Amino acid sequence: MKIILLGPPGAGKGTQAKRLEENRKMVQLSTGDMLRAAVAAGTDVGKKAKEIMDAGQLVDDETMIGIISDRLDEPDLENGFILDGFPRTEAQAIALDTLLDVKDMKLDAVIEMRVDDEALTERIVGRYTCGSCGQGYHDTFQKPEVDGTCDKCGSQEFSRRADDNAETVKSRLEAYHAQTAPILPYYKDKEMLKGVDGMADIDEVTAQIEKILSA
Ligand code: AP5
Ligand code: MG
Ligand code: ZN
Repeated sequence: MKIILLGPPGAGKGTQAKRLEENRKMVQLSTGDMLRAAVAAGTDVGKKAKEIMDAGQLVDDETMIGIISDRLDEPDLENGFILDGFPRTEAQAIALDTLLDVKDMKLDAVIEMRVDDEALTERIVGRYTCGSCGQGYHDTFQKPEVDGTCDKCGSQEFSRRADDNAETVKSRLEAYHAQTAPILPYYKDKEMLKGVDGMADIDEVTAQIEKILSA
C-alpha cells in the first residue's frame, strides 16, 4: 500500500504512520522528520530550513520535491509507504504524480485526517518524543505506562520540537489552510480522497484507517 496522510499540524499523521509501520511494515516518509534530521546534521538543506520551520512556514517546493524524489529511490519500500507531511502545496502534489509515474509506482489512497483547529494547539503543545526510538507521546493523551520511561525502548530521554509552541502553531495552521488544504480537491477529483474523524481517540482513528486500507 502507498498512501498519503493529509491533515493539519497535530492531526495525528505521525502517530498513525508509526502504527502502520508496526502493523503493516509500511515505511513512514515524514518530510518534517527528514528536515529535522538535516537541521540536526547541519547540512545545507538543514541550515536553510531551520529558520523557515521555526517560523512555521513552508520550505520551498524544489527542495522538498528533491528530498522525496531521492527517498523514493531507496530500496526499503517494498511493503509500501505512508507519505506524512508531503505533498503540502499544489506544486508538490503535481510533482509527486510525475515522480510516481516515472518510478512506476501508484498511490492507493489519500486519507484526510479532520481535526478542529481548537484541538490542535493543545495536542501540539503537549507533545514530546522519545529521544532514542522516536516514539511519540503526549502530556495528557498518550502517556508512557511508566512515567518518564519510553514504553518501546526504555529510554528516559525525551525531546520537544522547537516549533511546538503556541505562537508557531498559529503560523503552521495558517500555512495549512492557505497552502495545503487547497490540494484536497485535487485528490477528490481523482476520486482518491478518503476521510477519517481525527477527533476520535487514537485507537479509533487507527481502526478507521485500517477499514479504508482493507476495503
Ligand atoms: P511536520 O513535521 O510535517 O509537522 P506538521 O505537519 O506541523 O505536523 P505535526 O508533526 O505537528 O503533526 P502530526 O499530524 O504528525 O501529529 P502527531 O501524530 O505528532 O512539518 C514541520 C515543518 O517542516 C513544517 O512546518 C515546514 O516548515 C516543514 N515541512 C515539512 N514538510 C514540508 C513540505 N512537504 N513542504 C514544505 N515544508 C515542509 O500528533 C500530535 C500530538 O497529538 C501527539 O502528542 C499525539 O500523541 C497526540 N495525538 C495524536 N492523535 C491523537 C488523537 N486522535 N487524540 C488525541 N491526541 C492525539
Ligand atoms: Mg508529524
Ligand atoms: Zn523509545
